[in-house]
This record gives sequence, C-alpha cells and structure tokens, in this order.
Amino acid sequence: MTTDSIPEGFVEVKFEDIIPGEKIPFAIYIQIYHKQDSRYFLRRVCRKDELYNVVLRNILFKRKLQSLYIHQKDYRAYLRYISEIKAISGFRHAQIKDEKRLVLYGKAVEAITELLSRPVNKEAMQESIYLVDNLFRNMVKNPDLFEDMYKLFQQDTSVFNHSSNVSILTISFGIFMKFDQATIKLLGLGALYHDVGLSKIDQKILLKTSPLTPQEWELIKMHPKEGGKILKGGTIFPGTALRIVEEHHEQTNGKGYPKGLKGNQISNMAKLVSIVDQFESMTTEKPYRAAFTPSNALKQIYIEETSKNVRDVIVKFIKYLGGKNN
Ligand SMILES: [Fe+2]
Ligand SMILES: [Fe+2]
Repeated sequence: MTTDSIPEGFVEVKFEDIIPGEKIPFAIYIQIYHKQDSRYFLRRVCRKDELYNVVLRNILFKRKLQSLYIHQKDYRAYLRYISEIKAISGFRHAQIKDEKRLVLYGKAVEAITELLSRPVNKEAMQESIYLVDNLFRNMVKNPDLFEDMYKLFQQDTSVFNHSSNVSILTISFGIFMKFDQATIKLLGLGALYHDVGLSKIDQKILLKTSPLTPQEWELIKMHPKEGGKILKGGTIFPGTALRIVEEHHEQTNGKGYPKGLKGNQISNMAKLVSIVDQFESMTTEKPYRAAFTPSNALKQIYIEETSKNVRDVIVKFIKYLGGKNN
C-alpha cells in the first residue's frame, strides 16, 4: 500500500514497533485487499485499550505485514507509547531474540489452546503427550528462547492461556532442575490439564468479577476432583500426572482443597506445579485485581508455605526466574 492509498484519517506505523502482551492505547488496523472491488481497505484487529496478544501478533506476522495502521486522532497516544517502549534499555537488541521467542511461545500457546478446546479423549491425550514431548525438545534445543517467559504472559485470564503458561513454565523449570525426561514430561502433562475440571463449573461463576458467594466457592473447590474424573474416563492419562490435577490446590498445612491433604500426603509433583500455578495466576491481571509483580508473588508464595522441602523448591524457582533474568 503506498502512502497515497492510505485511507484519509489513518497513519501507517511499523509492525515491529507494537509490542504484544500489553494493552495498547490506540486501535490497530491492518490492510486487506478486496478482490471483487480491486481495492484495499482497513480492518480493525485490536480495539483501543484492548490486549494486543501474542497469538494475534503471530497471526499478523504470518501474513508478512510490514505495517499497521492507526487513526490520526490516536497519533499522539502512539508517539507516547513508542517513546515509553524505546525508553526501555536494550529494547532494539532484545527484539531480535524476541522475534523468534514470540513465534515459538505463540505457537505453543496456539497448539495447547486448540487441544484443550477439544473433548478430552484418548486421541486428544495422545496428541497432548506428543505436544508436551515437542515442547520439551524445543526448550532443550533453544533454552535462551524461553528466558523471562513470565514476561510473555498475557493479561488474558482464560483457562486455556493459564494452562499453557503453567505447562510451558513447568517444563522449563523442570529442565532447570535437571529432572529426568520422563519426570519433566509427566509434570508438563499434569500442568497442561491441571484446571481441566473448571470446564464442569458454570461459566457464570468463572467469569464473575464480584466476590464469590460461599456456595459458589464450594463449587469452584471441586474442580481438582472433577478434573480427575474427566481424565480417568476413557483416556490414557498417567496416574502420576493425575495426582497433579487432583492435588494442585492441596496445601502442606492441610488447609487446601478438595481433600485437605497434609504434608507428604501430597505428591511432590503436585506441589511443584502448584508453585508455578500460583505464580502464573498471581502475575496475571484479573478482572477483580491488578497483577502482582513477580517478586511480590514469589514472596507471598514463600511466606504461605510451611514445609521446608517445598520452600526449598520455591527458592530454586526464584533462582530459576532470577537467573534467567540476569
Ligand atoms: Fe486450579
Ligand atoms: Fe490453575
């Protein structure tokens, strides 16, 4: 599209200047060619103050777009946005690596989302095992591409997105911990399906932005058990990974749910995924609260844990995040 073919009132901006994972203070449009009329027109792909997420960005990237378009009235907001982004040191340099990383991360999220939106059966399970295996291989092959992964987390509160983040982060942490391959894959699989039981809970309760009633809260607390039921029925889900699903909200002090298990009654794998789960959930913006900073989230997770052994794992997790951060 040449400059004179840009519809009146719009401005062309560089595709690479808009960073995914943030709410963007202006609407974004792309150019579409209309064959019948042999003309270009602009289609809005992201509203003002809406999240411009990695999945959308990768869809646009695949179309080999060089430019995006914004409305002239938003140009000031765009300049402010750009100056803030460029103020972050090393931004340009970091972007080269980010390019590959965003594609890889976005692809993983897309694949997991697609998988989790299908019925849970033997076939889906086989694909999940294959997917976790692939994720694992990718991460071993490109360790630096998954650095600072939590920075890629989006303020998207959907269960799919949460599950992919927890799974990707768990696998990456497992590699850092030098666990054997089989253990890492079981962890990844359990993490992928840890919240599958939420599909049995009324959407109205899940999407509520006001505080839950005690009765609603009781229903939510059943999701680990419901998840267990789904996975036991006609799938080939390994027993060790099943315990991750059933026990990811149990706490060492016995105050967790649904069973109120204590200390060693909870599997070590479930405890590890629980740390990642809490971290992902806390560092993601929710309709009812802002996101915790990573350090505040880690502090709180550490303070609330009473077991020395689990605290040691939390310290390793802090080191993992910190090390990758430096
Ligand atoms: Fe959960
Ligand atoms: Fe969760």
